Amino acid sequence: MRKGCLLLIWLSSLVSLLIALEVPHPVVEVMGREVSIMLPGELEGIESLYFHAELVDNECDNNAYSFANERPWSAKIELQNSIEPNAKLRIQTVVESKNKIATQFSEYKINDKGIGELLDVPGLTSSTVPSDMIAKCKSVKRSPSETLSECSHRSGFSGGDLLFEDNFDNNQRLTDNWKHEVRYRNTGGKNQEFVAFVDDPDNSNITNNNLHISITKDERNMILLGCTSKKEGIAKRKECGRSSRRSKREPWVSKTFRSANMHTNFTFKYGRVEIRAKMPKGDWLFPNILLVPNIDKSDDDFVDHIRLYARGNSVLQDKYQSSLDGSSLFGGIVVWNKTETDPNPSEHFVTRNEEYFYGDDFHDYTIIWQTDKIIFKFNGEFFGAIHNATLLEPFNKHECHLVLGLTAGGNVNFNDEILDMKHKPFSNTHPKADKQFEELSRNRKWTPLVVDHIRVYAIDKDGN
Ligand SMILES: *[C@@H]1O[C@H](CO)[C@@H](O)[C@H](O)[C@H]1NC(C)=O
Ligand SMILES: *[C@@H]1O[C@H](CO)[C@@H](O)[C@H](O)[C@H]1NC(C)=O
Ligand SMILES: *[C@@H]1O[C@H](CO)[C@@H](O)[C@H](O)[C@H]1NC(C)=O
Ligand SMILES: *[C@@H]1O[C@H](CO)[C@@H](O)[C@H](O)[C@H]1NC(C)=O
Repeated sequence: MRKGCLLLIWLSSLVSLLIALEVPHPVVEVMGREVSIMLPGELEGIESLYFHAELVDNECDNNAYSFANERPWSAKIELQNSIEPNAKLRIQTVVESKNKIATQFSEYKINDKGIGELLDVPGLTSSTVPSDMIAKCKSVKRSPSETLSECSHRSGFSGGDLLFEDNFDNNQRLTDNWKHEVRYRNTGGKNQEFVAFVDDPDNSNITNNNLHISITKDERNMILLGCTSKKEGIAKRKECGRSSRRSKREPWVSKTFRSANMHTNFTFKYGRVEIRAKMPKGDWLFPNILLVPNIDKSDDDFVDHIRLYARGNSVLQDKYQSSLDGSSLFGGIVVWNKTETDPNPSEHFVTRNEEYFYGDDFHDYTIIWQTDKIIFKFNGEFFGAIHNATLLEPFNKHECHLVLGLTAGGNVNFNDEILDMKHKPFSNTHPKADKQFEELSRNRKWTPLVVDHIRVYAIDKDGN
């Protein structure tokens, strides 16, 4: 009875949301550098609101955003320069509700009283190509503002400053910025994946000014040289491999696949991460584009992290028939509940679906990590945020390093409790899952994770 009731309430609120999610044009007023924006109307069921303001024709020097997850649904955004009468202002509004996200672009002419007069600009959405804007705005240095970001390696920077970049130019070495993880990942347990991570140019290299990370079939059965496992005893032997004599008695690693996973020495807390990349394609491939707290256990299992990904699969759904294949982009966090003897992961994410696969082409991905929210953008456009203070708590304790890598399978990446098993012919915990994966990948058409660049910018307290 109670359940039916709740379901009904959920359904009716869903219906009203779908009807109500026609985003109105906001009311805009400016004073000096400050833009006040208010969304008129009833606005039932809204969970968060994102405004991006920029001066038309002067976007790079004058743009900023604000994010709110409670009433009133309004914001004050400070641009870099003062806004003169007759200036044209462009506002992007993104309204997020439990089941939907809706965007509206509006343009205003500012009159001499500072009121924004709505302009009728047909086709504004399609004429605004955010990725072009990003490319155009890249090199601009913002005026100094107080920074929220922290970086133990550096000091004396302000909001907007570039803290780290790797453009993966042909003439540089990967090891300049990155340290490889070297260990088997198919050792059973909660993190079971189907690869060994190695430091080998076959699996990670810079070609055509891009980083390529790919999975290769491993015909060897051996100890991993330079193994970085921090475990002891039998757990270490599982992660580092064994001599062929031992392998007969210790059959946990069959012939396996090799890939790469690497992290930066550079660490930071709070900031904007910009990545231009082409996601991998192929069933059960999973890109590691992560922010991982820089703690002793970072190379270990059960570590909380922030992540952004599209799975490689061509067909994959959850039990409610929502798409989880390569046309679904996710931004989220994985937090481990460590109060139990057997740690349990939970994932909290936002998602964005496309008609194409994210692995078809290069795109710009953004993660803005703040104290009380993590914002995710695709080609410059907001697509969701995590803003639950309890969940974000663990991320306020440490600086994070960047991780780039490519893996296959994994209980956390392909959770059997969530997935519709009609598309997944193996269960993660099956003792022969490794073998089953090998069978399935016999006719594989895998494409690598390709990264054009990754950059970290300092942000101010408003996230700009
Ligand atoms: C570099 O990576 C690409 C794609 O992953 C791969 O095809 C190529 O063989 C690698 N190059 C070298 C020199 O290992
Ligand atoms: C990592 O960064 C620290 C601080 O800048 C430096 O002392 C250390 O040598 C670096 N390590 C590597 C492997 O680059
Ligand atoms: C973590 O697990 C414990 C023990 O099962 C449970 O009581 C607690 O509610 C869990 N915490 C979270 C945040 O899920
Ligand atoms: C935040 O997440 C926790 C843990 O999942 C949950 O118990 C709580 O209700 C959430 N808070 C809000 C405001 O959604």
